[in-house]
Amino acid sequence: MSGIQEKKIHELVEKRKEARQAGGEKRVAEQHEKGKYTARERIAMLLDEGSFEEFDMFVTHRCTDFGMDPEKATLGDGVVTGHGTIGGRVVYVYSQDFTIYGGSLSYTCAQKICKVMDMALKNGAPVIGIIDSGGARIQEGVGSLVGYSEIFERNIKASGVVPQISMILGPCAGGAVYSPALTDFILMNKGTSNMFVTGPKVVKTVTGEQITAEALGGATMHSSKSGVASLVSETEEEAFAMVRELISYIPQNNLEDAPREVCNDRIDRLEESLNAIIPEDSNKPYDVMEVIHAVVDDGRFFEIHSNYAKNIVVGFARLDGMSVGIVANQPSVMAGVLDINASRKAARFVRFCDAFNIPLVTLVDVPGFLPGSGQEYGALIQHGAKLLFAYGEATVPKVTVILRKAYGGAYIVMSSKGLQGDVNYVWPSAEIAVMGPNGAIEILYGKELKALESEEVRKQFIAEKTAEYVEKFANPYTAARNGYVDDVIQPSNTRFRVVRALQMLQSKKDLMPPKKHTNLPL
Ligand code: HXC
Repeated sequence: MSGIQEKKIHELVEKRKEARQAGGEKRVAEQHEKGKYTARERIAMLLDEGSFEEFDMFVTHRCTDFGMDPEKATLGDGVVTGHGTIGGRVVYVYSQDFTIYGGSLSYTCAQKICKVMDMALKNGAPVIGIIDSGGARIQEGVGSLVGYSEIFERNIKASGVVPQISMILGPCAGGAVYSPALTDFILMNKGTSNMFVTGPKVVKTVTGEQITAEALGGATMHSSKSGVASLVSETEEEAFAMVRELISYIPQNNLEDAPREVCNDRIDRLEESLNAIIPEDSNKPYDVMEVIHAVVDDGRFFEIHSNYAKNIVVGFARLDGMSVGIVANQPSVMAGVLDINASRKAARFVRFCDAFNIPLVTLVDVPGFLPGSGQEYGALIQHGAKLLFAYGEATVPKVTVILRKAYGGAYIVMSSKGLQGDVNYVWPSAEIAVMGPNGAIEILYGKELKALESEEVRKQFIAEKTAEYVEKFANPYTAARNGYVDDVIQPSNTRFRVVRALQMLQSKKDLMPPKKHTNLPL
């Protein structure tokens, strides 16, 4: 090697070293003291070992205001970008570097992020954003805002084309929250992350309310109250493990299927416990999680939104190695009723699965929609319609099992045959009707009930009519006789029947009429 060549290579090695030092030892130490990893450490934990290829390591900001000098700027600026693999499959990644101007977004940071997003779209692979940032780079003013708008535009373009996952591992404030909000999944780490449109100081100034950052926008709040966070981790290590697992259930893009795994769990495994899971008293609860675990491959279920709207359960599992989205009413929380939050949660999940070719398995035990002024004022009509719309427009294979109650509009919404459910099974414990017996008797026999003189006679009358109603509707055979369901199955054999249905539906092709886009009730 000539002397000049050697010198140039040495210069490259030195520059790389400089870029990898990020904001310097002191800031890296401060980051670690806060219980946070650096941008590059995070990428290393997320991706397969040694798979990361970095882009734009030598990019610097171009701001000359407020004493800033591009000549002296840190190489790479406030974000590390590139691609690598998870389980051998390509993903694109960006990781904001809090040690450089608090991870704030300069226009060049935005360009770096947009570059990997464009590549992800062109090459059809997921994008994972690791967010730890003070928001727009204040010194750059509108340049930074334009940078955000260019990221948002790509988030929107990529929506429904490649999966997008946001990991919030530090602050995410102001309009910056809207990039994660446009993505498919938001993970927040407990204790070190927060998200809000306006921070505690602004809240105090404007409204007088005093609130901590954690209470206003921490992981606990967003995973239980607002539903903004779909996943919550206790540590960053757990966060990366969760995202790696999530990636294993989803395809690279909307034109591919999710990877199929080898299944070592017999598909005809009988689960006798399911024959006894429905209580004698149809108003008593049971845990639908037990049904899910009993049915899916190896009992493995990856739950999404586990702390939010617990009256409905959503998440990923495998059946005969195929990735499926599970939606199940949860009778042990609010009797499994559908309310605003449950409808929103499930609708979003159903739409993700449909966009990315993941079959839906729906387990139904729903007494109806939640009555009350609170729900009506909050637009239950609109939110319930979201779930109805999501199921109705979904063209992926849809297999439904009614375990017990399926009443009224909620029966229709939960992937019923009329909404193009492909295979709809019922357990012998199923009750399918317009409403439960109590409400029905009041309406059907209102006049007769008024005319009855004594309370005793009234009770006797209600008991007789209830028995008649239950006999007619609190069984699956009225629906089965009319072909509204495809078969009445033994609970213990649910796994086998659902797997066989999914196998049969693998070649399903169903298209909605061409249109610019739907007008989902938002
Ligand atoms: C430039 C920033 C910055 C920013 C932080 N820094 N945020 N530099 N622009 N937005 C710098 C700090 O000056 C500091 O530099 C270093 O990053 C670390 O910040 P600290 O404040 O020391 O850290 P910490 O105490 O942990 O607090 C973190 C923080 C706080 C909560 C994020 O920095 C903060 O409140 N930042 C401002 C947040 C904000 O209001 N951003 C604008 C939101 S509006 P030195 O050199 O002193 O170490 C927005 C609009 C987007 O983002 C619109 C899109 C549509």
